[in-house]
Amino acid sequence: MSHKFFVLFLFLLFISTSVCVHEEGFISVIISDKGLDFAKDILINQTIASIVLSQLPQIEKSVQVPLVGKAHVILSEITIKNIQVSSSYVETGDTGINVVVSGATANLSLNWRYTVSSWLIPIGISDSGTATVKVEDLQVGLTVNLRNQEGTLKLILLDYGCDVGELSIKMNGGAAWLYQVLVDAFKGNIGSAVEDAVSKKIREGIPTLDNLLQTLPKTISIDETAALNISFVDNPVLSNSSIELEIDGLFTERNDVLVPQVYHRRSDISVSSGGLPKMINISLHENVFKSASEVYFAADALQWILDELPNQALLNTADWKILIPQLYKQYPNDDMNLNVSVSSPPVIKVSDQDVGVTISIDLIVDVLEAGEVIPVACISVDISASCDAEIVRNSLTGRLKLKKFSTDLKWSKIGKLHMSVIQSLSSTALKTVLIPYLNSQLKRGIPLPILNGFTLENARIFYTPPWIAVCSDVTFLGDYYLRHHLAYVS
Ligand SMILES: *[C@@H]1O[C@H](CO)[C@@H](O)[C@H](O)[C@H]1NC(C)=O
Ligand SMILES: *[C@@H]1O[C@H](CO)[C@@H](O)[C@H](O)[C@H]1NC(C)=O
Ligand SMILES: *[C@@H]1O[C@H](CO)[C@@H](O)[C@H](O)[C@H]1NC(C)=O
Ligand SMILES: *[C@@H]1O[C@H](CO)[C@@H](O)[C@H](O)[C@H]1NC(C)=O
Ligand SMILES: *[C@@H]1O[C@H](CO)[C@@H](O)[C@H](O)[C@H]1NC(C)=O
Ligand SMILES: *[C@@H]1O[C@H](CO)[C@@H](O)[C@H](O)[C@H]1NC(C)=O
Repeated sequence: MSHKFFVLFLFLLFISTSVCVHEEGFISVIISDKGLDFAKDILINQTIASIVLSQLPQIEKSVQVPLVGKAHVILSEITIKNIQVSSSYVETGDTGINVVVSGATANLSLNWRYTVSSWLIPIGISDSGTATVKVEDLQVGLTVNLRNQEGTLKLILLDYGCDVGELSIKMNGGAAWLYQVLVDAFKGNIGSAVEDAVSKKIREGIPTLDNLLQTLPKTISIDETAALNISFVDNPVLSNSSIELEIDGLFTERNDVLVPQVYHRRSDISVSSGGLPKMINISLHENVFKSASEVYFAADALQWILDELPNQALLNTADWKILIPQLYKQYPNDDMNLNVSVSSPPVIKVSDQDVGVTISIDLIVDVLEAGEVIPVACISVDISASCDAEIVRNSLTGRLKLKKFSTDLKWSKIGKLHMSVIQSLSSTALKTVLIPYLNSQLKRGIPLPILNGFTLENARIFYTPPWIAVCSDVTFLGDYYLRHHLAYVS
């Protein structure tokens, strides 16, 4: 079956994990019954799209017709024109995920032709024409399960079946005996052909979908420093009406085996509105943020040298002659810079209404003399900030707001510094490097584990310390995405 079939399942699958020992995942994804229903509808729509206009094998038979003779009848170009599903459901349970379609109808068209030969009519006669077949009460069911296999999801087809109920034939032209032959001798074959066609789509479709799952990355690169581990941990938990998947969710130092960040169609910024229930609930533990903090800190990514300032006040010791006389006395007319470094991994805590961030930085004032960098003073700054989480496209982002900061002169080789000097250096460091840098990182955000081809819609954020939950509906980008991004699969 075509790749279309699988996309639907991908969505279901993106939620699972493995291994007997219970490991902890720091991102949990719950697909609610609403989400499962949505996934099921996409699956059914895509499957129908892949079946419609497919041609069934031709059927031929020789039949002895009373008063007519021996007729050789051939049905060809048997085409499923359309399928209408009146009812369907998805349920999860101990055995797996069941999708059931009941009471579907399908219209088929076909060409018939025959030749009759008998001792009465030695020359033989033949005729041809078309017919339509209406299949009613078509039932389709399948059961799949999801298993964690070394951090990726494996989709297993456990059971499937297709059953044609009623079948009626309408001929355009042709003799009355032929109609009777079609009803008596061919009905069963047409029904089986439809059942086979549908079963084949399912049989071929599941492994293809599974292959697609295997191609999902285990890590997503965030930037040159960090990657996000989106390996599944544990097996998916199937409960009455939902599926829960656990994802490792921690930032790691970027290594070389990376997959670029997943494709997202631009322009879809979800609006935080609309009531619950939502299709999915993606919860991120504050350890996700902590791990990011540790990775960036360890990679020395939180360090900046400032040698040019908006007001140019720092460039030369001469500029500081009046405020810091000692500095000018020891290093007359030397260039200066400011070395700003975060001194410990920023502490990130999810609270009831936002995310609290505390950051400690060291500001080292350097004098540049004869090609040498001479640290002359160090100011420590403790910053308390908060961050309101937002959803932009399929990422969790935010904007840091400075709440307050306190300063302390750690050491100085140029005597005691005026409070005004300390304040001005500190706020310069915050305004010119720290906050803009952190905000640019935050703007990039943490990509949420949404399957390619899907996008969040009407997301809402809930703070339930130590978790942040993003409850959202999902829209399917549809064939546009499929054409451009899944073509390689089949
Ligand atoms: C499935 O197809 C039906 C009929 O074309 C449409 O109304 C429905 O919105 C589709 N559902 C999804 C989830 O694409
Ligand atoms: C099948 O054809 C009949 C008549 O030709 C039509 O009334 C019916 O709507 C069609 N069914 C579907 C599923 O399109
Ligand atoms: C599942 O639903 C059934 C009946 O609807 C209920 O008896 C059972 O306790 C539920 N199981 C769980 C795990 O929620
Ligand atoms: C990603 O997480 C999985 C599951 O927790 C773990 O086994 C794996 O080692 C992690 N990968 C990296 C690169 O840290
Ligand atoms: C989302 O899931 C978490 C558990 O992972 C749960 O604590 C929280 O209540 C859920 N939020 C909503 C709005 O359903
Ligand atoms: C900046 O200061 C840190 C210590 O606070 C030091 O490790 C680092 O080497 C300094 N960077 C430069 C370029 O001097």
